[in-house]
Amino acid sequence: MFITLEGPEGSGKSSQLPVLAEWLRSKGYQVFTTREPGGTVIGDQIRAILSNLDNVSMQPRTEILLFLSARAQLVEEVIRPLLTQKTIVLCDRYADSTMAYQGYGHGVDLDTLRKLLDFATGGLYPDITFLFDLDIQTGLNRRRNSGGEWNRLDAYAIGFHERVRKGYLELAAAEPQRWIKIDAGQSFDQVQLDLQNALIKRLPIAANI
Ligand code: TYD
Repeated sequence: MFITLEGPEGSGKSSQLPVLAEWLRSKGYQVFTTREPGGTVIGDQIRAILSNLDNVSMQPRTEILLFLSARAQLVEEVIRPLLTQKTIVLCDRYADSTMAYQGYGHGVDLDTLRKLLDFATGGLYPDITFLFDLDIQTGLNRRRNSGGEWNRLDAYAIGFHERVRKGYLELAAAEPQRWIKIDAGQSFDQVQLDLQNALIKRLPIAANI
C-alpha cells in the first residue's frame, strides 16, 4: 500500500510521518518511509540543487523537470520494488506536490503537468493521500519559529502559498476516495490520532492482528 502526505509549509506532516510509521509497525505492518524530493542518492543530489539559495536563475521548467527526475528515480529504485513486498510505503510529498506547487502555485498548465507526471511515475499513484490542511500564515510562522530549514522554495510570496492551498483542496475534492483531509491546526497528538483513526478504516488486516 502506497500512502503519501501532502500539505503546505509547516503543516507538520514531516514530524507526524515517523510517529505514524512506528504506530503502523506496532500493528504488525512492514513500513518504509521516504521523502520527496530525495530518497535516493541521485534524488538527494537533485534536492540539493533545488534548495540551493544561489540558484536564483532556475527556470520554472527546469525546476519541474528536476522534481520529476528525482521522482522517477525514487519510484523505480525504491517504491515499486517495496510495494511488491507487502510493505506500506509512507512518502512525504509526491506527485500532488507538483500539481499544487508548480500547477496551482506557479500557474503551469495542469493537463501538461498530468502528462509529465504519468511519464515520471510510470503511472504509479498513491492508494491514500493525507492532506494536512492549515492556514498559510500559521504554517509559515511555525516554520520560521522552529528554526527549520528556510530555503529558496519557502521564500515565495504569501499569494503563492494561498494558491497552493487552494490547489490542494481542489485536488482532494476531485478524488475524494483517495484523499483524507486532516485539520493540521490541531495539537500534534490530535493530528496523529486523526491519521491513525482514518487509516484503521482503510488498512488491510496485518499479519499479527
Ligand atoms: P522541504 O524542505 O522538504 O519542505 P517540506 O518540509 O514543506 O516538505 O522542501 C520541499 C519543497 O519543495 C516544498 O516547498 C514543496 C516543494 N515541492 C514542489 O514545489 N514540487 C514538488 O513536486 C515537490 C515534491 C516539492
